[in-house]
Amino acid sequence: MKIIVLGAGAGGGFPQWNCNCGNCRRARAGDPSAVSLTQSSLAVSADGERWVLLNASPDLRRQIELTPALQPQTAGRSSPIVGAVLCNADVDHTAGLLTMREMQPLAVYATPRVLDVLARNAMFNVLNAKLVERRPLTVDHPSELLDRYGQSTGLRVEAFTVPGKVALWLEQIDAENFGSVPEDTVGLKISDLAGTKSFFYIPGCASMPPELAARLTGAGLVMFDGTTYADNEMIVAGFSDKTASRMGHMSMAGTNGSLNALGPLGIGRRVYVHINNTNPALLGDTLERRVVEAAGWEVGFDGMEILL
Ligand code: MLT
Ligand code: MN
Ligand code: ZN
Repeated sequence: MKIIVLGAGAGGGFPQWNCNCGNCRRARAGDPSAVSLTQSSLAVSADGERWVLLNASPDLRRQIELTPALQPQTAGRSSPIVGAVLCNADVDHTAGLLTMREMQPLAVYATPRVLDVLARNAMFNVLNAKLVERRPLTVDHPSELLDRYGQSTGLRVEAFTVPGKVALWLEQIDAENFGSVPEDTVGLKISDLAGTKSFFYIPGCASMPPELAARLTGAGLVMFDGTTYADNEMIVAGFSDKTASRMGHMSMAGTNGSLNALGPLGIGRRVYVHINNTNPALLGDTLERRVVEAAGWEVGFDGMEILL
């Protein structure tokens, strides 16, 4: 199984279009310790030929141009991308579907809740229903990932709910947890059909309840929410009045952070993805980067390849 990090950034990417923070300034200046990140997405393949996207980012077009494996391989119009699996309905995870609108057969997998959000947004009808099949993911129920015509991709997916919230653009301000339901945010376990190789992908997760910790215990590879280093980072930077947990993300540091929560779980390889531009650990030369690496984490980057 091969995994490519298409985008290791969070929503907005790095540098973010309207941000002139120290990190974003360094990225624009071409600082080698501040390498740009596109928005959150992975590609995975069992055979190296047919690829499934895990989330479809607004930067998908650029990500394809930077990733030869995802470019057309035969004459005329074609794509090695046979489908996509979505973790939530956030803009950074769904807007890339609009990039794949040019008459290409695809299978799009998401929870019924997220499919319902897409169905109610008429713009996604640019995905021609004759060619693009939308398939519900039942949580806690592993299912084979099939292309549009029912051919196996050699991969299996299991979606499971994780603490989080409804997409930012669907928040109901007066409702409990903003009107979120459990299926608004899922993590994914991707396996080969033999079940010998697998990894977890959890780009958004607000906390680590015991049942989720148990699920991740002993995993070979976990690619996890690295949005912020500190829970109050966006507030301190003066960019937002929201903590990371309010936005549906665990910070790296802190008592309830992912360094503490995942450290003791005996995971083989831990990689941060969905890294926000304010996060000091995304820079190669910071104390925070040294802290996460000393704790055994890798910081994901665009183009990172992992072979299982
Ligand atoms: C998030 O991960 O919290 C969202 O992608 C935020 C956003 O939609 O900008
Ligand atoms: Mn996001
Ligand atoms: Zn910035």
